[in-house]
Amino acid sequence: MTVQEKPLQNFNISTFQNDLLDWYYANKRDLPWRNDQDPYKVWVSEIMLQQTKVDTVIPYFNNFIEKFPTVYDLAVADEQAVLKAWEGLGYYSRARNLQTAVREVVENYGGQVPDDPNQLEGLKGIGSYTKGAILSIAFNKPEPAVDGNVMRVFSRVLNIDEDIALPKTKKLFESVTREIISQEDPSSFNQAIMDLGATICTPKSPSCLLCPVQEHCEAFTLGVEEQLPIKSKAKKNKKIPYVVLLLKDKTGKIAIEKRPEDGLLANLWQFPMVPLQEVTIDLLENWFYAQYGLRIRLGQKLGDLKHVFSHLTWNLEIVEAKLFEESSEENCLIFVDKEKELKDYPFPVSHQKMMQYL
Ligand code: ADE
Repeated sequence: MTVQEKPLQNFNISTFQNDLLDWYYANKRDLPWRNDQDPYKVWVSEIMLQQTKVDTVIPYFNNFIEKFPTVYDLAVADEQAVLKAWEGLGYYSRARNLQTAVREVVENYGGQVPDDPNQLEGLKGIGSYTKGAILSIAFNKPEPAVDGNVMRVFSRVLNIDEDIALPKTKKLFESVTREIISQEDPSSFNQAIMDLGATICTPKSPSCLLCPVQEHCEAFTLGVEEQLPIKSKAKKNKKIPYVVLLLKDKTGKIAIEKRPEDGLLANLWQFPMVPLQEVTIDLLENWFYAQYGLRIRLGQKLGDLKHVFSHLTWNLEIVEAKLFEESSEENCLIFVDKEKELKDYPFPVSHQKMMQYL
């Protein structure tokens, strides 16, 4: 099927819209970013909701908006405070991009989130989904906001068996949504599809008997709803082994370091990580001296942890270590009090989990 061949023959758009919207008005989820149509709040919520479930996002959203209630507050905030508010959500570059983009809104658009698609898409971290979500939800524009959940719903309703892992399939669903979306209430239409995908048209065992658009659903009619959507498998994750050192000095303070300002988990803090692709454990103490200028002694192994990112997996072996020779030379480690100071720094989830061993 090509993007031009729209799969909408025999599809009654206006009754579909009515059935969907009637259901949404009666059943919409009470979510904190739905209290008003503030485009900044819609934006924050949509960035948080990418690949994270609504229930997880709610407390993060409330805390974030309490700390940074407007674009101006976020624009002037310390990046470490922003990362701290994001701690545990993952995908930290999203938080940094959001702050960069908000600064641009303050500088170039007088603090008003633009309602122009080109201006919005020019902002860091805003792709086609977020652009469509802000334009429709906050500004009532009939723009598609197509993510994996929306593709699942429409692939079933319209019995589309294109591979949703392919970029061209997303374009197909965007053009389909443009035709189906309510012109009167595009904000509710897109949110209704999101709610339907989250509560009824779920990936496994969809609740078709409760579905407000069941009679429009071709997959249900054919009994193929569980076979859709088609999604080709992602490549296997590369596994990277590390030793993570819980390194204490003589006073019991614990070593932490800031990650580089670019790349994975940029500017977050961590316990020192030794890549086992570069050094074997028997040479680790020497490697550490060469790298950090500090003499350490390894102690016991405390445990193992695995952390899966979207594109790679960390296999972490947690080992205790003692500093036995202070160095006056500069190095990038700092030693902090584990009760009083550790909580002030933003850590990735995998390193937060290690704190149980301290
Ligand atoms: N998932 C992604 N965006 C959403 C929204 N605005 N409301 C509910 N679920 C969502």
